[in-house]
Amino acid sequence: MFPFQFKSTTGQSSISQRCSSDDLTRLRLKYTPYYHSFTAQDATRVTLNGRQLVMLASNDYLGLTHHPKVKEAGKRALDIWGASTTGARLANGSRAYHTELEERLAAFLGKEACHVSAAGYLSCMSAVQSFAQKGDIVFADKNCHSSLLAGIGLTQAKVERFAHNNPADLAEGLRAYDQSIPKIVVFEGVYSMEGHIAPVADILASCEGQNCFLVMDDAHGLGVLGEGGRGTAASLGVTEKIDIICGSLSKSLSSTGGFVAGNKATIEYLRTHSRQTIFSAALAPVQAACALAALQLLETEPEHLSRLWQNTRRHQQLLTDLNLDTWGSQTPAIPIVLGAKERVYPFWQKLLENGVFTVMSIAPAVPPGKDLVRTAISAAHTAADFDIIATALKAASRRW
Ligand SMILES: Cc1ncc(COP(=O)(O)O)c(C=O)c1O
Repeated sequence: MFPFQFKSTTGQSSISQRCSSDDLTRLRLKYTPYYHSFTAQDATRVTLNGRQLVMLASNDYLGLTHHPKVKEAGKRALDIWGASTTGARLANGSRAYHTELEERLAAFLGKEACHVSAAGYLSCMSAVQSFAQKGDIVFADKNCHSSLLAGIGLTQAKVERFAHNNPADLAEGLRAYDQSIPKIVVFEGVYSMEGHIAPVADILASCEGQNCFLVMDDAHGLGVLGEGGRGTAASLGVTEKIDIICGSLSKSLSSTGGFVAGNKATIEYLRTHSRQTIFSAALAPVQAACALAALQLLETEPEHLSRLWQNTRRHQQLLTDLNLDTWGSQTPAIPIVLGAKERVYPFWQKLLENGVFTVMSIAPAVPPGKDLVRTAISAAHTAADFDIIATALKAASRRW
């Protein structure tokens, strides 16, 4: 069907045949929109096939991945602790850097305790899987991240999905069940594709008196919203009312890894019941040290957060002036909704030709009719980056 063909003839089983004849994979390899291999990166610039591009798709919101203090902390940790713990913390122990990061993160978020793991995906899975049991009901926002859905999928709880950012729909769903049934409400502080902020006060009102345990994934709110970047719950003064705040170290904290924060009892319970913790190797020393250094920078160098928002406003204005649909994004994660996949690829390609790297997202990854190019702003984007971004967006928009 597509010109790309796998030459290998190894593997004659049905599943091997399925792999070598998969249309989606062949389409991806034909148009190559994903998995590019950059040969160099310096802050917001990446090099692809010898050409320098402005990176407009990463989640380095505060632009700290190349901060000298972050790099220095990573190098020091490697010298002191080596490359890895080569095992799960339950098996061969935690290290002082895990405990230090957990204490600092918990204090930063306004929670009693925290548990870190090797990926945000694992943390967010465990934030649901650890707590939900058979007989419970999980209510999840329809646009929840794959990691939360994966966590739900590992439980025997009943699942109800409520309309995205729609507390009235949630309230109606909750009312259908007896108060005595344990319920877990799962949502995000900031939605990564849409850039929407959750209406947390209304979600809390919907949950009032309904025996709900609240889990909020704030991967894209941490470092972005609230005083000093303390996140979505802190920005609304409702930290105490959210039982669990989980997220990633790979966005504003410029590292790799994830966290789950809550009160002491819930985090100790998670350490007993989280398969993602019990059976998976611990967060590596370099990753923990980089995240901790970034966390310290959030507290000592507020200029990164203010520059992030200046840049976000500038980008929003640019997109508005070009009459592009940003799906009402309120944050530095800003989609350009083009509505049909036939429009998305040429738009993305035109941006690339003009020196800007973005990522496209097509249904079913986004709801039907919302096919989009995702852009994400960093505090590290410079005036020169914005000149290139503006020219590229104008060129891409001219096509329709
Ligand atoms: C909302 C949300 N939760 C969790 C994750 C997983 O984080 P990580 O990439 O650190 O595994 C992501 C990453 O894209 C995310 O956007």
